[in-house]
Amino acid sequence: MKQKIIELEGKALAEIESLVDEASLEQLRVSYLGKKGSLTSLLRSIAEVPAEQRPELGQLVNKAKENITRSFSDKKNLLSALKSRQGVSLDITLPGREQVLGTLHPITRITGEICGIFSRMGFKVVTGPEVELDYYNFEALNIPKDHPARDMQDTFYVSEGIVLRTHTSPMQVRVMESQPPPVSVIAPGKVYRRDSDVTHTPMFNQVEGLLVDRDVSLGDLKGTLTSFVHQMFGPDIELRFRPSFFPFTEPSAEVDIRCVMCKGRGCRTCSHTGWLEILGSGMVDPAVYGFVGYDPEVYSGFAFGMGVERIAMLLYGIEDIQMFYRNDIRFLGQF
Ligand code: PHE
Repeated sequence: MKQKIIELEGKALAEIESLVDEASLEQLRVSYLGKKGSLTSLLRSIAEVPAEQRPELGQLVNKAKENITRSFSDKKNLLSALKSRQGVSLDITLPGREQVLGTLHPITRITGEICGIFSRMGFKVVTGPEVELDYYNFEALNIPKDHPARDMQDTFYVSEGIVLRTHTSPMQVRVMESQPPPVSVIAPGKVYRRDSDVTHTPMFNQVEGLLVDRDVSLGDLKGTLTSFVHQMFGPDIELRFRPSFFPFTEPSAEVDIRCVMCKGRGCRTCSHTGWLEILGSGMVDPAVYGFVGYDPEVYSGFAFGMGVERIAMLLYGIEDIQMFYRNDIRFLGQF
């Protein structure tokens, strides 16, 4: 009997030790300690042994029961602790989590590139208000109230005499008004027009340029813009200056580059002309100097303005301008 108790205890403890899941542990517990369990029946059989042996055997079997019970509950605690740690435990075989870095918005990038090119030529970067006085946006740029050029850029009016600027050219006036010549600045920023299709958004970005000094000629304008275009689109790009009109420059020219899509053969992007317009420019009209108090007999200068989205579309081959503002991370992450 004594031997049986010792063997049963040893066997139970070894089995408990070897188990690794809670369900089979519970099964094992019932098989020893349940109503029909082996330890339970052993405990009952004490009643059948001679009375003088009972105290010793009783003590022994109770001690065994205590040990086995404690062993079960210890093991149960251990298994449930392991289980709850599984979700957070460190699995060093897992691949590392990728740290996704943000990228610059393509428009931010191209604006930076344009400004960088002109900065290295000595132009200073300045910025000004998007909510602008009619005076700066039109009047002082030689676009009077009844001038047809006001229709060229369908304007968002904020209130009487206040607009969302339709171009960055008002910065020409603001800069000249605030300092005497010489001036060489570029002014990047948002502009607004009532326009929306695959090549127009109501808000877009321009970079304005202005240089005024003694003896500035059309040749300086050509040289500066040619150098810019070569740095922006590559030294082999072909460009041309095409006569144009702006109320605040005289003479005026638009700069075209050879179509980057079809290399000049003619396609949808260049409307089958082989050329793409990328900026407007010209010699500052003396009428504008009149508004800012510069002497047109002493000073001359040139100005230019370009659309950033358009340049970005040409450089990256993007056909829909709206892509820039849909906030699709799969698109924006490519730049
Ligand atoms: N402001 C003109 C536009 O938005 C561009 C321009 C700027 C033209 C400077 C000449 C000189 O179309």
